[in-house]
Amino acid sequence: MNLEAILDGVRADVSGHIGEGKVADYIPALAKVDPSKFGMAIVTVDGDAFTIGDAAEPFSIQSVSKVFTLTLALGRVGEGLWKRVGREPSGTPFNSIVQLEQEHGIPRNPFINAGAIVVADTLLSGHEPRETLGEVLSFMRHISGDEGIVIDREVARSEQQTGFRNAALANYMFSFSNIHNPVEKTLGVYFHQCALSLSCIQLAKAGLFLANNGKLGGSNHSVVSAERARRINALMLTCGHYDASGDFAFRVGLPGKSGVGGGILAIAPGRAAIAVWSPGLNANGNSATGTRALESLARRTGWSIFG
Ligand code: DON
Repeated sequence: MNLEAILDGVRADVSGHIGEGKVADYIPALAKVDPSKFGMAIVTVDGDAFTIGDAAEPFSIQSVSKVFTLTLALGRVGEGLWKRVGREPSGTPFNSIVQLEQEHGIPRNPFINAGAIVVADTLLSGHEPRETLGEVLSFMRHISGDEGIVIDREVARSEQQTGFRNAALANYMFSFSNIHNPVEKTLGVYFHQCALSLSCIQLAKAGLFLANNGKLGGSNHSVVSAERARRINALMLTCGHYDASGDFAFRVGLPGKSGVGGGILAIAPGRAAIAVWSPGLNANGNSATGTRALESLARRTGWSIFG
């Protein structure tokens, strides 16, 4: 398959749509991002990389980070994690609070904000925030093979000053004893993980283990077992785009995780990891042109997991 030619085709398909959608502005630092940016990177399980557009430019991965913290938390606490967070699609927006009361402070899944805050809390237990963030950063550098990955402190600070909804979610879960550390510390970890800054190339490399039976690209080194990789992919498919997860499965047909920075990581199991970035968001808070580009890629490659 000529992935270079396929990416040229994707670019042609989306060229009239670059800049569509609305850049997230509830985190002030994200409002400054140029809406005309567009990049895409494919990294295959053989280790070959193909890119178009702004694929080498770092952006704020925001909720895409939840895939990586979930991976770390499962490594830390194993199946016990599922006592504190569910694994069902929520059908509600990423920052919704409504289900938490009925469900006694147990978030529906690890990708909505409430679930990711619980995941961050499990990583924090027994550590100081600085140590937990060091662990997250080392993990990202290890799985991407790129020591240059950093956390954008300005983005983290910007969200820390304006993250009232996340503070509400965390305090509410604390009242159900589902947050075990001081709320400000757990939120500090969460805001900083969301402020990880990666390019499409770095993000596709970091996600490659999920396409490669849990192994690092081009090696036999396991990040997680094949079974765990499969399960994380299942969660990405069912919950990775919040109340638009069904629509993403319908249009693209790949496990995917979005972020309000406009990035999406998609996994074609056994084939490749794909990262796309276009800052304009649709009404569900997912990249508008990024989704369109993945839809085009899936059609052109035939990589949909549904055949
Ligand atoms: O907690 C927040 O609101 C952001 N740090 C992350 C949300 C996000 O990326 C939702 N994704 N589409």
